[in-house]
Amino acid sequence: MRALIGGSGAPLLVEAPVPEPGPQQVLIKVAAAAVNPFDLAIAAGTVADYGVARRLESYGLGFDVAGVVDRVGEGAPFLPGQEVVGLAARLELPTKAQAEYVVLDASAVARAPRGRTAVEAATIPLNALTAWQALDRAGAGAGRTLLVTGAAGAVGGYLVELAALRGARVVAVAGAGDEELVRKMGAEWFIARGGDLAGSVRALVPGGVDAVVDAAVLGLAALDAVRDGGAFVALTAGAAPVGLRGIDVATVFFRADAAQLAEVVRLVEAGQVTTRVAGTYPLEKAADAHARLAAGGVRGRLVLVP
Ligand SMILES: NC(=O)c1ccc[n+]([C@@H]2O[C@H](COP(=O)([O-])OP(=O)(O)OC[C@H]3O[C@@H](n4cnc5c(N)ncnc54)[C@H](OP(=O)(O)O)[C@@H]3O)[C@@H](O)[C@H]2O)c1
Repeated sequence: MRALIGGSGAPLLVEAPVPEPGPQQVLIKVAAAAVNPFDLAIAAGTVADYGVARRLESYGLGFDVAGVVDRVGEGAPFLPGQEVVGLAARLELPTKAQAEYVVLDASAVARAPRGRTAVEAATIPLNALTAWQALDRAGAGAGRTLLVTGAAGAVGGYLVELAALRGARVVAVAGAGDEELVRKMGAEWFIARGGDLAGSVRALVPGGVDAVVDAAVLGLAALDAVRDGGAFVALTAGAAPVGLRGIDVATVFFRADAAQLAEVVRLVEAGQVTTRVAGTYPLEKAADAHARLAAGGVRGRLVLVP
């Protein structure tokens, strides 16, 4: 099969064996696989610097997949022909989701949302699960105030929507042109990026917000907007500030969770969570998709189609 690998600076399209599903695993024929900032770090070979994977010559690319179950390993609760989404969460596999086929643990797979294309569905797993798990860690529940930086980004959009659904009151920070978008997603307050963030937040929420999820990697500038004893959730390894003023600082790294993924799929079907696609590319044009994502300003996910 054709598969993308990275590690030497750019995504490379190679011929690789179709992986075999073991017990509790499924082989998925890939219909669409989104490109995430993490793929850029893996392609560049810098992922080992962050302590999240060993240093290897190459890694498979692609975390998000939408496709059709092709074969089922012993005990996996799926059937061939089922349309599914999944998260290829094991970083060190030689091939992952940006390929013609991928093997996933059944515990990383859920049925695909009805009424959405595979391209739309492929934008869900990594970013929605990261948002879900970050909100859990931030304690973003009913009546709590939450600052989301990078709110117009792929993770940021899910953070705003899922936090609002939990009843949290969201302050969103994004580019001035993103106000309508993030308000539609459920932000109660909007702050245009680039000014005095803590001052602006404290003018809206006296004393500071209960928690921040810092998807734009603003660090101390975002911590200053949190109340004493609140929570700071970083999403980038090595980017968390020191927990001054009793603030609980944590870094959340996504994990596969079929139950959470199934719940997000249900919310997508109900129209309560949005899928956003910025463009599609064939596998052989992956380098173009990487360059476009690296240039910034992309709203929604770029998706590769084998
Ligand atoms: N820990 C995990 O498990 C995990 C999982 C997924 C992603 N991540 C990380 O989370 C971060 C966000 O990922 P993503 O996929 O959502 O990326 P993305 O779609 O590129 O979104 C990032 C957003 O932040 C915006 N931004 C940049 N600087 C900003 C600032 N100063 N103020 C406000 N907004 C700003 C960007 O706007 P422009 O495009 O206009 O610059 C963009 O909208 C990345 O660092 C990624 O590596 C971590």
